[in-house]
Amino acid sequence: MNKHRVCVAPMMQYTDLHDRFFLRLISKNIFLYTEMISTGSIIFGNCLYQFDFNKEEHPVAVQLGGSNPNHLSECSKIAEDYGYDEVNLNVGCPSERVQKGKFGACLMLEPNLVAECVTKMSQAVSIPITVKCRLGIDNNNEYEFLENFINIVKVTGIKTFVIHARNGILKGLSPRQNRNIPPLKYDYVYRLKRDNPDLNIIINGGIKNLDESINHLKYVDGVMIGRASYDNPFMLSNVDEVIYKTQTVKKDKLEILNEYIDYILVMEKKGYDLSRMLKHLFGLSKGDKNAKLFRKRVHEIMLAGNLKDNRNKLIELIN
Ligand SMILES: Cc1cc2nc3c(=O)[nH]c(=O)nc-3n(C[C@H](O)[C@H](O)[C@H](O)COP(=O)(O)O)c2cc1C
Repeated sequence: MNKHRVCVAPMMQYTDLHDRFFLRLISKNIFLYTEMISTGSIIFGNCLYQFDFNKEEHPVAVQLGGSNPNHLSECSKIAEDYGYDEVNLNVGCPSERVQKGKFGACLMLEPNLVAECVTKMSQAVSIPITVKCRLGIDNNNEYEFLENFINIVKVTGIKTFVIHARNGILKGLSPRQNRNIPPLKYDYVYRLKRDNPDLNIIINGGIKNLDESINHLKYVDGVMIGRASYDNPFMLSNVDEVIYKTQTVKKDKLEILNEYIDYILVMEKKGYDLSRMLKHLFGLSKGDKNAKLFRKRVHEIMLAGNLKDNRNKLIELIN
């Protein structure tokens, strides 16, 4: 079974190592991605801790942001040594800060440079290198723009492309608007797969639930879900059975909560911030009758800074 069938999108400030541990309690098979790590912060910034992850997270990819082939290859090597299963290159982030660093979505305008980066990265490691990109940039609305980008990059031999199925607008839209305003064009991604049956094409953008995922999987090799799975992580609880067809024991919300609390208490002793770990729980009660109260209680525990003594106050609200 293709391990990219269901991926959770890289999201800065969200898919940190704690969130990934939490999600792994819900599904054994989903493919996880780190937040974007910029090569500059590793090469010049003493920020190696960003590579930290829990051994339970596999399969997990690190996402790099950068455009200097040597820096990207050096960081890929570090990621491989840390034990990551894949290195993904960010060619989709439209933020101004990232544009100033000349990486992210603006690289779609420089497919030859992307190919050079990917070649160097592939030469440095034996784990797969993958690319996450948009359909196009600004007014490049034609399918041929995406086709040309992929044709140039695929010559490097890389096989997996994650496509956020909307354009990136470099001027005038914030990153948030860039995730909502440019229209979704799933048909371009389906066509890309039809034109390149040998590539592993993962579709991303606006996917809300498992039913929609199953529909996309008729046309492409995998789906990547971001906001919907963060807001309602338990939606991933049927993925192992329904999509990966594996016989894992499905945990209920109470078991997930208990195991995640145990994890938080251990990590708190190691110095990790309690609120940052707790915030990933907000979505767990989505759809339950106590959802609002549960979220309020999580918030209160953040403010009190004491989970150990308040554990039961959370447990009693989940069902
Ligand atoms: C808060 C937030 C942070 C994000 N950070 C990243 C990132 O670090 N790297 C990246 O490639 N995409 C990032 N994205 C974009 C997502 O990976 C994804 O492409 C986008 O949200 C569309 O998928 P969705 O509609 O399922 O959320 C981020 C999205 C959000 C909401």
